[in-house]
Amino acid sequence: MKEYIIETSRLTKKFGKRFAVADVNLQIPKGEIYGFLGPNGAGKTTTIRMLLGLAKPSLGTIQIFGKDLKKDKLAILRRVGSLVEYPSYYGHLTARENLEAVRRLLDVPKSRIDEVLSIVRLTKEANRPVKGFSLGMKQRLGIATALLGNPELLILDEPTNGLDPSGILEMRELIKSMPKQHGITILVSSHLLSEIDQMATRVGIISKGEMIFQDSIEELRKMSTSKMAIKVDDMEKAARVLLSTGTVSETVEDRLLFANASNNQVASMIAELVHNRISVYRVEEEKKSLEDIFLELTGGGSL
Ligand SMILES: Nc1ncnc2c1ncn2[C@@H]1O[C@H](COP(=O)(O)OP(=O)(O)O)[C@@H](O)[C@H]1O
Ligand SMILES: [Mg+2]
Repeated sequence: MKEYIIETSRLTKKFGKRFAVADVNLQIPKGEIYGFLGPNGAGKTTTIRMLLGLAKPSLGTIQIFGKDLKKDKLAILRRVGSLVEYPSYYGHLTARENLEAVRRLLDVPKSRIDEVLSIVRLTKEANRPVKGFSLGMKQRLGIATALLGNPELLILDEPTNGLDPSGILEMRELIKSMPKQHGITILVSSHLLSEIDQMATRVGIISKGEMIFQDSIEELRKMSTSKMAIKVDDMEKAARVLLSTGTVSETVEDRLLFANASNNQVASMIAELVHNRISVYRVEEEKKSLEDIFLELTGGGSL
């Protein structure tokens, strides 16, 4: 059996009569960057808060490192680093002083402060008061804080929210570098598909509290099939001509679509059309984008 760092079973959270999270079975293998994707309000933060023991599940179980979170909460959470929503700091203190305050609580060696500052590339800014930091720098300091205790699991709730494009790029590179260099498993949530697509190795998609997809990013990409689209002057006639040669087409708006057409098949289709005096205006490959797949999966909910 596969070793899961996080495994939930039927995890559910109700607020009053409403289900914010319903029957979610998360499975996060060791060493993966698990992208937890869903539109705003889908239930990502609520799920993450339950994983961190900040909210009590209405139903279901949470296993982290193979242990029950309810029974071994402290022992588990000591091995987890997290960044949820906007982290708060002492603005008048420097980055180093803020880290020092947390370091004492965790009781890790002083040298760890320089290590985490270097990982998030804040070494040069270490002695500046945090109140002058950009949001990107504050988020990186948040990751540094999360890394202080040498966690085996890092849980990041929308860490790129509010960052500018360069901040997003930096955060993404930072997250991607961690499993390789530091052997950490990461759960990172986002409402942006492009972001998850660029950093995750596994993907869980949540919509209206329910998990609607969970597999490797490759499996998700496989769902984006390509079709050959042909535009002609007379679609009906073209479809008839091609059908008589055994080629089935699908009529979509102003074009005919063909699935799995090889180069040779496309060539003979065009020859056949031209032979029947049909004008071929365009031959294009149409790829169903990941965005399209998401819209289908989430029933049109924006991502
Ligand atoms: N403390 C709360 N009380 C009532 N409803 C809540 C509370 N927290 C979250 N919700 C609701 O639960 C749903 C999921 O929210 P959330 O987990 O924050 O989604 P996401 O993080 O994916 O944007 C939303 O409909 C939200 O309004
Ligand atoms: Mg959220």
